[in-house]
Amino acid sequence: DHFIHLLDQFLTLHRKQIDAALAPFLLSLETLREVKNKMRTELEYGLRRETQASATVKMLPTYVCGTPDGTEKGKFLALDLGGTNFRVLLVKIRSGRRRSVQMYNKIFAIPLEIMQGTGEELFDHIVQCIADFLEYMGIKGARLPLGFTFSFPCRQASIDKGTLVGWTKGFKATDCEGEDVVDMLREAIRRRNEFDLDIVAVVNDTVGTMMTCGYEDPNCEIGLIAGTGSNVCYMEDMKNIEIVEGNEGKMCINTEWGAFGDNGCIDNIRTKYDKEVDEGSLNPGKQRYEKMTSGMYLGEIVRQILIDLTKQGLLFRGQISESLRKRGIFETKFLSQIESDRLALLQVRRILQQLGLDSTCEDSIIVKEVCGAVSKRAAQLCGAGLAAIVEKKRENRGVERLQITVGVDGTLYKLHPHFSRVLQETVKELAPQCDVTFMLSEDGSGKGAALITAVAKRLHNIDKY
Ligand code: GLC
Repeated sequence: DHFIHLLDQFLTLHRKQIDAALAPFLLSLETLREVKNKMRTELEYGLRRETQASATVKMLPTYVCGTPDGTEKGKFLALDLGGTNFRVLLVKIRSGRRRSVQMYNKIFAIPLEIMQGTGEELFDHIVQCIADFLEYMGIKGARLPLGFTFSFPCRQASIDKGTLVGWTKGFKATDCEGEDVVDMLREAIRRRNEFDLDIVAVVNDTVGTMMTCGYEDPNCEIGLIAGTGSNVCYMEDMKNIEIVEGNEGKMCINTEWGAFGDNGCIDNIRTKYDKEVDEGSLNPGKQRYEKMTSGMYLGEIVRQILIDLTKQGLLFRGQISESLRKRGIFETKFLSQIESDRLALLQVRRILQQLGLDSTCEDSIIVKEVCGAVSKRAAQLCGAGLAAIVEKKRENRGVERLQITVGVDGTLYKLHPHFSRVLQETVKELAPQCDVTFMLSEDGSGKGAALITAVAKRLHNIDKY
């Protein structure tokens, strides 16, 4: 009782200051609607010929023009670069009555000095990993078709060409921006001179995710990643994609919505903590929406708030420890654990201890609250963006109500105890005329790349003969 009394006193004393720090993270319904509307405006800019070059949301054509139909088959290699792990996969797709997808994959580490070294080193490393994998699987001699899931913004002129617009997330290898990543991969394979591969497609992870879910559910025309980064793709009517010739049918657009706000249009909701995170990042001024909504940055926002609260004497006895100064200590998995409802405060304390943060019971209450405010805002912002997309699709179809499936992947969506629920609630609230089904993708980056490769290969062979 005595303890509870003291705790109570402490909390009321500091309540005001803590509330003040977290207040900017509470977004009203009206603000969220505004975010949705602004996103809609930016999507349109990206699609229009006159505004496209200067648009922040780039709306990149992918040259993927349909979802799979179940007739895809064959053996494929897939590469997955840009998510939590770098992987090489062998994917076997069967069609017909024994329709199935089998996958074998191997995870490889990409050391920081390679992520941020030269482009040649990065691609040599990738090819080294492929060689290891082929060796391991005993398939070095087979010249398999390869789908390259490359989860960064690429300007494409066909399915097998992709010029890197700019690195995002944790990558910063030199001499890659403005280059074709397929060429870079081919050259690295040639340099090694040990095996040959037929690179058929370069694919964004959102597109892979949409395709994987589209394999099960033809109503899936949107792919969402809420993981290390944040992005969405969707099937757009060709007639609305002004920079691509033709008006018939649809094409998948990689929105690269992570860059939403880079023109300042959501500065009114960015907090000083968001600005600090941005300034300390590898790409200051860029990917502002992504920095408020994705796994790579949420922990950093939390850390900035904790530093501020500590400076105000509200946390950790006013002492900023060495650990708290370390960038990146709060990974998505820790946030997810801290926010789990099943976790007793004592366990929160233990997690903080693991991170080198010596906390009292009161500290752990506050830390949990901070995490909650940051991740809730992230889910709501992401929901507001998605509401803009589904509304656009509804208008495209000219229907009163839209039934649509969104394929989703990403550690934040999958691991966090509340993110997916809040995201879904927000979409419901902001796009009431759309019935949105969320479908978890199982390894969209690998399976999706293989499916796209299969389709591309089939179309290519038809071209040839
Ligand atoms: C970043 C990349 C984007 C990718 C997303 C999710 O936003 O720019 O291409 O889809 O992260 O991995």
